[in-house]
Amino acid sequence: MRVLVVGGGAREHALCWKLAASPLLTALYCVPGNPGIAAVATCLRGSVDDIPGLVALAKLEAIDLVVPGPEGPLVAGIVDAMEAAGVRCFGPSAAAARLEGSKSFTKAVCDAAGIPTAAWRRFTDAASARVYLATLPAPPVVKADGLAAGKGVVVAATHAEAAAAIGEFMEAGRLGAAGRALVLEERLVGEEASLFALCDGEHAIAFGAAQDHKAVGEGDTGPNTGGMGAYGPPPALTPALEQAAMERIVRPALAEMARRGTPFRGILFAGLMLTADGPKLIEFNVRFGDPECEVLMLRLRSDLLAALLAAMDGELGHYDVRWSSEAAMTVVMAARGYPGKPATGGTITGLDAAGAVPGVQVFHAGTATKGGTVVASGGRVLAVSATGATLAEAARAAYAAVDKVVWADGFCRRDIGWRALGRAPT
Ligand code: AMP
Ligand code: GLY
Repeated sequence: MRVLVVGGGAREHALCWKLAASPLLTALYCVPGNPGIAAVATCLRGSVDDIPGLVALAKLEAIDLVVPGPEGPLVAGIVDAMEAAGVRCFGPSAAAARLEGSKSFTKAVCDAAGIPTAAWRRFTDAASARVYLATLPAPPVVKADGLAAGKGVVVAATHAEAAAAIGEFMEAGRLGAAGRALVLEERLVGEEASLFALCDGEHAIAFGAAQDHKAVGEGDTGPNTGGMGAYGPPPALTPALEQAAMERIVRPALAEMARRGTPFRGILFAGLMLTADGPKLIEFNVRFGDPECEVLMLRLRSDLLAALLAAMDGELGHYDVRWSSEAAMTVVMAARGYPGKPATGGTITGLDAAGAVPGVQVFHAGTATKGGTVVASGGRVLAVSATGATLAEAARAAYAAVDKVVWADGFCRRDIGWRALGRAPT
């Protein structure tokens, strides 16, 4: 099979690395890819948001399967466009991708399907949002309704902070169109976990879980990022809790989407809060998480391409995948300044030595090459990943590899996995 992966981050590097190992694969392409991906796939120029351009490329290269990584093209309808052109594309239609594209849509699906989630209300004007805010006993979470690249959520500590967020999103227009409508929701308390399900429209199978560290600073402090590190399997998501989340959250959502005539096919990413009353849904995403995907791909024993094809063919009712008994961890190395404006252009060496640490894979996120050397070109730059017999061993290997990377502008959190490793945050 000739496969085209769309994206250029560490998630797509991990997907390409795993797809490259498939006996079903004859050729692997990636748009736009990155210097790390270039070691396992042919990188082609293009933009992940140029859907007509990607369709033309897929036709030209006689691609059998397109695998989009990020949410942008999925929400914009890449699957519909590819299929209209006769190219198979793994993921949800634009109609089903609304599970990530609109928070109020997801909440409506939850209500219709009886899925446990935080109580919520949607507002299109700031004045009514403030009136409702005043009636709440505890400060709520304020969320922009549309896609806001992780910047549209404020977990307010006080009512005044929530009121300020309402003003910034709706009146100051800080998020543009994404903030014109917002959702005020009850704050859930517990540990978070990311659960992934492979879905064929009718059936879902659990496809791994991980815990992510969203805050930029050690001890989970400071502003939120795309994710500074992840590990799995997460001890907090016991097999019983995972099964409960599949039965009460993932499968009811799938059934409701099918009932609406917009069946969900692809990877459904359930962001869970493990509360005292069991798992509750924080949000759905319609793709693999980044850096969660890196952890999943290191632990997946089965052929990824075969699994994606089984989902495309509606065969998940009698399908299962195997996982390594090892733990995995990924530590993100980011450029100074991230999640604000990152310092780009700095040279990075020591990558071969890092990759030679036993059990380690260094996935590239924001890198480029300049005169034959690797340079930083984004905020999150490397996802240094490792497996180990225990999580502590995976952590040791990942940090040993981090320490071999020579990059003046780079930083990482030193406490990835602190909850599971039984340490207090540093
Ligand atoms: P989201 O973009 O919806 O994933 O939200 C980003 C982060 O905000 C989540 O990973 C949680 O840490 C936090 N969050 C969102 N909604 C809630 C909630 N209802 N209760 C507590 N924390 C939340
Ligand atoms: N790491 C969280 C996400 O991919 O949304």
